[in-house]
Amino acid sequence: MSMQNRDRPYDIVLFGATSFAGALTAEYLAGHAPEGLRWAIAGRSAEKLERLRDRLPGGAGVGVLRADVCDPASVRALADSARVVATTVGPYVTYGEELVAACADAGTDYLDLAGEPEFVDLMYVRHDARARETGARLVHAAGFDSIPYDLGVYFTVRQLPEDVPLTVDGFVTADAAFSGGTFGSALNQFARLREMAAAARDRRRHEPRLVGRRVSAALGAPRFAKEVGAWALPMPTIDPQIVRRSASALGRYGPDFRYRQYAAVRRLPVAVGGVAAVGAVAAAAQLPSARRWLSGRLRPGDGPSPEKRAKSWFSLRFVGEGGGRRVLTEVSGGDPGYGETAKMLAESALCLAFDDLPRTAGQVTTAAAMGDALIERLRAAGIRFRVASTR
Ligand SMILES: NC(=O)c1ccc[n+]([C@@H]2O[C@H](COP(=O)([O-])OP(=O)(O)OC[C@H]3O[C@@H](n4cnc5c(N)ncnc54)[C@H](OP(=O)(O)O)[C@@H]3O)[C@@H](O)[C@H]2O)c1
Repeated sequence: MSMQNRDRPYDIVLFGATSFAGALTAEYLAGHAPEGLRWAIAGRSAEKLERLRDRLPGGAGVGVLRADVCDPASVRALADSARVVATTVGPYVTYGEELVAACADAGTDYLDLAGEPEFVDLMYVRHDARARETGARLVHAAGFDSIPYDLGVYFTVRQLPEDVPLTVDGFVTADAAFSGGTFGSALNQFARLREMAAAARDRRRHEPRLVGRRVSAALGAPRFAKEVGAWALPMPTIDPQIVRRSASALGRYGPDFRYRQYAAVRRLPVAVGGVAAVGAVAAAAQLPSARRWLSGRLRPGDGPSPEKRAKSWFSLRFVGEGGGRRVLTEVSGGDPGYGETAKMLAESALCLAFDDLPRTAGQVTTAAAMGDALIERLRAAGIRFRVASTR
């Protein structure tokens, strides 16, 4: 167990515990807390927090902290009170920076569910250096975006030879619905494409160049992928960027590492419909009036019903090649956006708080900061990582 900040009142504080994803994470932690875990739920409404605590198993032992991102002192006090803070308060580009800054200053480990590239790039430029000084680990995208991709590629690379060029293609299939918070964050990001590109450029100016190795990760071009028997389409998510950062941080990915990512769809009309739907939402998000109308369709706090979540699932298949070896792996589980996301966020918080991990600090990915330890935790929690075939 890391000795850093052992004198603080809480091992883990969950900020935004009253959000759709936050309440599921609180329930998961309450049901799986190791003996002696000191943890608290935090948010802006004391009344909502008390109601949540009353329905948690063992809730009497859970702390309640009031903090509002509009009140910086309350956010600083929250960061000072914990060894690890996990937050679901999004859109992160709107609400997230205060807590990242406070954790970087206080040397507090930080986790979020940000699938917003602009936010992650801005936080790198503004807070990575300070976090390295204090020892804080700043881990973004610790939910379905991007843990199964990041750890799935890490797991695949571990099945391939060392010190040779490697390629990995990732294919995702899923049946699931999303919440008001996720929809709002996605709309917000679609409306800020120019800001997103500027933040990426600024990050490139600040980030040290890789020396002696090559790493690339991109959205794949549309094609029929024989290897998985499906149409493979580009998927505009943050995951390839996270995978690229893990590959840059970890020499095990070899001297020349290439990753491409796709959504896999069996039937061509579904593929065409999917691309058209994402394109239509992205185009509508450019117009303030259309964006307002769209965001009214799914409100903050709304999300899929327990029945819908019980039927939801995901499967990520990876085809890895290098050094004369080819491997097909799979990461799979239940409801990706919420049930499994809550599990991933909570297990990541427990992992940072209690596991024996490589020494890292600053903005780090789940693979670089937690790798094998987090895979073991997620496997024990029912998320499958398996080698389907090798050649
Ligand atoms: N990475 C992934 O795979 C993944 C999966 C799921 C969700 N997400 C992301 O997670 C985030 C949460 O999603 P969700 O659907 O759970 O959101 P949500 O239900 O809309 O909740 C938003 C939360 O933000 C809180 N909040 C708003 N303003 C605040 C302020 N000034 N101070 C403190 N708290 C404030 C709200 O507090 P109140 O409860 O008091 O209103 C609520 O708890 C979104 O950004 C979403 O995109 C990512």
